[in-house]
Amino acid sequence: MIQTNTIKTIFNTLLLMSTLSKVNGTVRQFHLHLYGEVSEEYGPHILCQIPNVSKSVCASMCLENAKCHAVEICNHGVSRCRITTGQHSSPMSNSSRSTCQLYRLGNPCREGYWDRLQNTCTQNITQTLPPNTCADCHCLLGLLDIVTNGEIRFTLSGGKTLVCVVEVAVLGLDIYKWTVIQRRRSGGSVHFDREWNEYKEGFGSTTSDFWIGNDFIHQLTNITGNHHLQIRMTKNNGQKLTVEYLFYIESENGGYRLHAASLDGSQNLGDPFLSTCQECANLMKFSTKDVDNDNDTIRNCASVSKGGWWHNSCQKSNLNGEFGQVNYTLGINWNKFTDLSYVEMRVRRL
Ligand SMILES: *[C@@H]1O[C@H](CO)[C@@H](O)[C@H](O)[C@H]1NC(C)=O
Ligand SMILES: *[C@@H]1O[C@H](CO)[C@@H](O)[C@H](O)[C@H]1NC(C)=O
Ligand SMILES: *[C@@H]1O[C@H](CO)[C@@H](O)[C@H](O)[C@H]1NC(C)=O
Ligand SMILES: *[C@@H]1O[C@H](CO)[C@@H](O)[C@H](O)[C@H]1NC(C)=O
Ligand SMILES: *[C@@H]1O[C@H](CO)[C@@H](O)[C@H](O)[C@H]1NC(C)=O
Ligand SMILES: *[C@@H]1O[C@H](CO)[C@@H](O)[C@H](O)[C@H]1NC(C)=O
Repeated sequence: MIQTNTIKTIFNTLLLMSTLSKVNGTVRQFHLHLYGEVSEEYGPHILCQIPNVSKSVCASMCLENAKCHAVEICNHGVSRCRITTGQHSSPMSNSSRSTCQLYRLGNPCREGYWDRLQNTCTQNITQTLPPNTCADCHCLLGLLDIVTNGEIRFTLSGGKTLVCVVEVAVLGLDIYKWTVIQRRRSGGSVHFDREWNEYKEGFGSTTSDFWIGNDFIHQLTNITGNHHLQIRMTKNNGQKLTVEYLFYIESENGGYRLHAASLDGSQNLGDPFLSTCQECANLMKFSTKDVDNDNDTIRNCASVSKGGWWHNSCQKSNLNGEFGQVNYTLGINWNKFTDLSYVEMRVRRL
């Protein structure tokens, strides 16, 4: 576990030391079992233990280890530095006594888990407000005082989990509060070739791939005011594309009809949502393999292309196609931007 090249720069050390804080402002004291050894008993939360290093070296080792969220400095003759996940403080033991001070990394996520590798917060919050009074990320994130980029998952009282993305805009002048409505990233572990009711309710997993549900997207975009849809896509070769719309969809009675207007002028580039063409999605109702609302008199586009979408006749876009499929008809495509390995559709209030 101990990396030999962990001590990099003085800058790193200073950075970490400035973010360390003593728990509750006081030195916390422990009695430790198996003093001086990495203990099986304490297992998962102690990542490694280094004898006789200074506090700043210990801190720098923590900074180098993305799993580290706290260090313990123990003194019993010679000092010991413990790199820990910070999930628990070490258990007390009466046998071998030593005194340790626990320093936690300042956590930008408060109670949530800070993934230092991805620099995201993951926090599960169960909100107990009545349904619909606070059921999008704009409102839920407003309950917290969030100032860092990250991802927070809220579980609503009805059971649905929302993936919220916080994005602090340049200069910190604005904080974008996104509700993620669709994600493709995990290589096909969740299939999207599903029926109307599944698209209506939503499916998949918020920790991998999902469709949040057409009823939810309708409610989300039915809140007074404009809604900004951003679609972020990455091709297998790493090339990225982001497109932006004003966006809402009608209710189930309206077939979840798509209403999109460009926010970035991309219709000039043969925009698959907006252009007037027989494959374009705007103003189409949603179609699935069992509910054919498309504009093709012969084919059932959702069935042919393996995913529910605002199919026309048939499509120049299908972000719900089959993951990893190179056949254009079946795959995940955005016009000529094909072979996509990552897609995220997110919505925020304007
Ligand atoms: C601890 O480290 C210091 C400085 O590196 C060294 O002088 C000292 O001998 C070490 N003590 C032990 C017990 O290893
Ligand atoms: C440690 O000491 C406390 C108080 O003396 C006692 O209640 C506890 O059971 C002891 N724990 C162990 C593991 O022996
Ligand atoms: C949050 O929920 C997910 C999915 O249910 C679970 O895997 C994860 O451990 C939870 N995280 C926390 C910090 O409770
Ligand atoms: C919300 O949707 C309902 C139908 O489901 C509609 O009657 C109402 O006008 C919509 N409200 C807004 C603000 O779009
Ligand atoms: C659907 O097809 C009809 C008949 O070809 C056409 O008039 C109409 O504009 C099409 N609708 C869309 C949204 O493309
Ligand atoms: C792509 O898939 C469609 C639908 O299954 C099929 O008709 C077509 O032949 C396939 N194209 C190629 C090049 O394999």
